[in-house]
Amino acid sequence: MERTFVMIKPDGVQRRLVGKVIERIEQSGLKIVAMKFMRVSTELASKHYEMHKGKSFYDGLIKYITSGPVVAMVIEGENAIAKIRKLVGATDPQDAAPGTIRGDFAQHIGRNIIHASDGEETAKREISLWFENEELVDYEMIDEQWIYE
Ligand code: RTP
Ligand code: MG
Repeated sequence: MERTFVMIKPDGVQRRLVGKVIERIEQSGLKIVAMKFMRVSTELASKHYEMHKGKSFYDGLIKYITSGPVVAMVIEGENAIAKIRKLVGATDPQDAAPGTIRGDFAQHIGRNIIHASDGEETAKREISLWFENEELVDYEMIDEQWIYE
């Protein structure tokens, strides 16, 4: 089982897409282990996107992520990191396939609705950056035997 960090960005919240996005995650069989609705501080946003510091889009990106509340989540499942990246689609919504979250709901790279960790190390780093250990809830889903063989 893998865990990954997912965030519905401020445009996803403002466009009232929270329910639709979570529905796609849930219906794929993945499991929510943590979730919070919050405003992102500049400090947290700069730590989260530190790998992009110095790039042309960095300032706009920090402004965007801190511009309104977000929904932060930890999602668990088999190959959860890659699975969620597939559900999310390409970074630029213009390249994102129909059926993906960005492909179906977004138009512009600077307003692409959702973030998801891009690898194992990133997932670990982001989960501990956004959540305290005790915020990750340990529980069993009653349909697990019908989701996994
Ligand atoms: P994310 O981290 O948000 O899940 O997106 P990603 O892995 O698909 O893409 P990444 O390369 O990590 O870029 C982070 C976010 O920065 C914005 N961006 N804007 N204007 C641009 O050229 C540009 N490039 C990236 C996007 O919001 C992207 O999601
Ligand atoms: Mg990224």
